[in-house]
Amino acid sequence: MTQSNDSIDANFSVSWTHRLRFTEHPFSSDSPLNQEISKLNPLTLLPVIDRGIVNENPSFVESLQQWLDSLKIPTSDLLIANGGEGAKNDSQVVDMVLESINANNLCRKSCVLVIGGGAVLDAVGYATSIAHRGIPIIRMPSTTLSQCDSGVGVKNAVNYFGKKNFLGVFDPPYAVINDLGLLESLDNRHWISGLSEAVKVALIKDEKFFVEIESCAQELVNRDSAAMASVVKKSAILHLEHITKGGDPFERLDARPLDFGHWSAHKLEQITNHTLTHGEAVSIGLAIDLTCSVRLGLLKESVATRAIALLQALGLPTAHAELVNNALLDGIEEFRQHLGGQLTLLMLKGIADPIDIHELDTPIVRQAIAELL
Ligand SMILES: NC(=O)c1ccc[n+]([C@@H]2O[C@H](COP(=O)([O-])OP(=O)(O)OC[C@H]3O[C@@H](n4cnc5c(N)ncnc54)[C@H](O)[C@@H]3O)[C@@H](O)[C@H]2O)c1
Ligand SMILES: [Zn+2]
Repeated sequence: MTQSNDSIDANFSVSWTHRLRFTEHPFSSDSPLNQEISKLNPLTLLPVIDRGIVNENPSFVESLQQWLDSLKIPTSDLLIANGGEGAKNDSQVVDMVLESINANNLCRKSCVLVIGGGAVLDAVGYATSIAHRGIPIIRMPSTTLSQCDSGVGVKNAVNYFGKKNFLGVFDPPYAVINDLGLLESLDNRHWISGLSEAVKVALIKDEKFFVEIESCAQELVNRDSAAMASVVKKSAILHLEHITKGGDPFERLDARPLDFGHWSAHKLEQITNHTLTHGEAVSIGLAIDLTCSVRLGLLKESVATRAIALLQALGLPTAHAELVNNALLDGIEEFRQHLGGQLTLLMLKGIADPIDIHELDTPIVRQAIAELL
């Protein structure tokens, strides 16, 4: 601590363990879910589940209910949250969780267990972060995207003023339990769409992983569980390592490498009225920034072509009619405003060889888009 007269700078840091577990038997007695619940030993447990799982995987819900009934801790009634981006577009899910926290007297020694896609995790995590300044939450991500990426993240947000993630907080979950079996009930579109985040993290951090995704692309498309398990696991670990070892878990600095391809993705989601999934929008955003990297003279054309070919081999889109919408370019300024400070976008010089840039001229983006259409 430094001190002089009336000026005090007192440093403090808070240590946090980011717990990520993989399982295929979430409700067995020795499962990581049971272990984490026992460690936390909450006074009350409030379970929340995505309606998509309730509709498509009734046997999971039955097992969940049996497990909840077997717990020795007081448990509130299972809440069902409408899934998809709508969960973040209005206050219904946040309000429902806050009302249940209030009605069931949950406190900071309680726990919310949320099982759902990225949108439900974001909205429920936002509610638990603001109630009593933070109720511990255990996340069980249930989509490819949320198991590969968002479930491991420390961000929780809802959309406001028509802007993606305008209201939100940095608040890490108590634990993240990735149950690979949950992915089985996804339709083909959502089974694949989150893989764009795996390709993204491979492109910016791990060439070997990129090659692995290339070599198992067909198996992934064919819904091969072992291929999916391996890709989800590596992607989640790369995201977790970035957060825990990257030196900037709460994004205080200008760079946001995990948001490669996201300035346009977030804007595209909004322009297309969320008819694109986040993962699909990210795939298109990656194609744009890979092509911009080439046009900026940073990246060899053959590398961009190879990466775009991988996205296409996975059945992901790399272009959209709305790319010619002038509003897309507003995404650059909105991205800067959301982050604050100077514009910082990540581009590539090669696979696992990123570089930050601080301006991106409109003609370059228009040229890149023209090439993709
Ligand atoms: N917080 C972060 O760091 C972060 C990072 C990346 C993305 N996100 C957010 O994640 C959201 C996208 O998440 P998503 O791609 O998981 O999609 P999603 O949450 O929108 O879910 C897609 C659909 O799948 C359904 N569903 C969920 N699990 C299912 C299952 N197991 N079986 C059948 N249906 C199921 C849902 O009900 C929904 O209809 C976006 O809002 C995005 O902004 C957040
Ligand atoms: Zn994303």
